[in-house]
Amino acid sequence: MSRLALSDADKEARDWFIETAKARNCSTTVDAMGNIFAVRPGRRQGPPTFAGSHLDTQPAGGRYDGILGVTSGIEMIQVLDDHWVETEFPVGVVNWTNEEGARFPISMLASGVWAGEIPLSHAHELREVGHGNAGATVASELARIGYLGSTPCSHEATPMAAHFELHIEQGPTLESTSRKVGIVHGAQAYRWFTIEVTGRAAHTGATSFAHRADALLAAARMVSYARAAAEKHGALASTGIMNVEPGSTNTVPGHVKFSLDVRAAKDHIVDAVEEELRNAFSAIAKGEMPSGVGMMQDAEKGKPCIVEWTTDSNSPAIDFHEDCISCVRKSAEATVGDETDLTMDMRSGAGHDSVYASRQCPTSMIFVPCKDGVSHNPEEYTAPEDCAIGAQVLLGAVLRFDRL
Ligand code: GLV
Ligand code: MN
Ligand code: MN
Ligand code: MN
Repeated sequence: MSRLALSDADKEARDWFIETAKARNCSTTVDAMGNIFAVRPGRRQGPPTFAGSHLDTQPAGGRYDGILGVTSGIEMIQVLDDHWVETEFPVGVVNWTNEEGARFPISMLASGVWAGEIPLSHAHELREVGHGNAGATVASELARIGYLGSTPCSHEATPMAAHFELHIEQGPTLESTSRKVGIVHGAQAYRWFTIEVTGRAAHTGATSFAHRADALLAAARMVSYARAAAEKHGALASTGIMNVEPGSTNTVPGHVKFSLDVRAAKDHIVDAVEEELRNAFSAIAKGEMPSGVGMMQDAEKGKPCIVEWTTDSNSPAIDFHEDCISCVRKSAEATVGDETDLTMDMRSGAGHDSVYASRQCPTSMIFVPCKDGVSHNPEEYTAPEDCAIGAQVLLGAVLRFDRL
């Protein structure tokens, strides 16, 4: 799947979502970030209990990451209608814009604005990265596809009683332990950076190693060092984007820009990794190895480069709400049985819109297994029976919360 946020393909999926919700007598609201809220009335007025996730994908993503949580929300509405169920309060389904952060480089962008954690103007001005149309911003693309809504993007304008999100696990734990449902208690911390290394472009044939300020060599050492440092701290560090300039076989790279994504169970671990990497990258740029690793030979050292950091986003570790976790647990036990080993309490390795939703309303998540734990990959697969179990648990959790 390639359904990058605010692309034509995303518009098609959004249009389908709105049409389907309207056909089920839901009211729909589009806010200033293009978030779509579909609401089915209850017996009484009040903030709806929401099921939700995202319709956007990675550039070469799978068929489940995100959309499973939205389509199962639609299925929930359909089941309530088919069985003439009247809920106490309204229930809703939400599609959050640009969860992936793949096209516009802040993940969980629009739930972050809704939660008051990311300024709307900053989100609107974000530019697309490396997918063909460098001039496009979030605001220009929202307007182009007709999803720049008039409702303010805020939890005050579109309040929620609770937010439940069904998602594939995106890792191997459930599958490898033969579990069917993950009861998700929270999510790990992560921080994204852009690192720019500036050296000096030079002729590859006429410039000795000792005379080079090779920005790519320094960047490569940084990426490699980040992995080792993260491992030492029990964290994760990853680089997924690297731009090399001027990008010529016979020119030593003068400028490199790369992404760095650092994750850990606790905020203080992310802090410690960041601190170590800031020191180490400065040393590497100067041609020194960070302390303890030894000195480079002169030829390895070359000439110094300059390294600069930008922090693009910061998502602290989060604990979900006890009431919502309990609704998910009871619903899971009602679905797969409470005498079995088919459920598991777990934390999320990935970020989700639920992370920001949880800043403003009780929240939790439901995970279902995915094949070989693979996600952000076209091979992503979850069996239809497992999707159905997840949807059933979602429905039960929403109904339980509605009656609390
Ligand atoms: C967001 O989905 C993330 O985990 O990067
Ligand atoms: Mn997702
Ligand atoms: Mn994803
Ligand atoms: Mn995600």
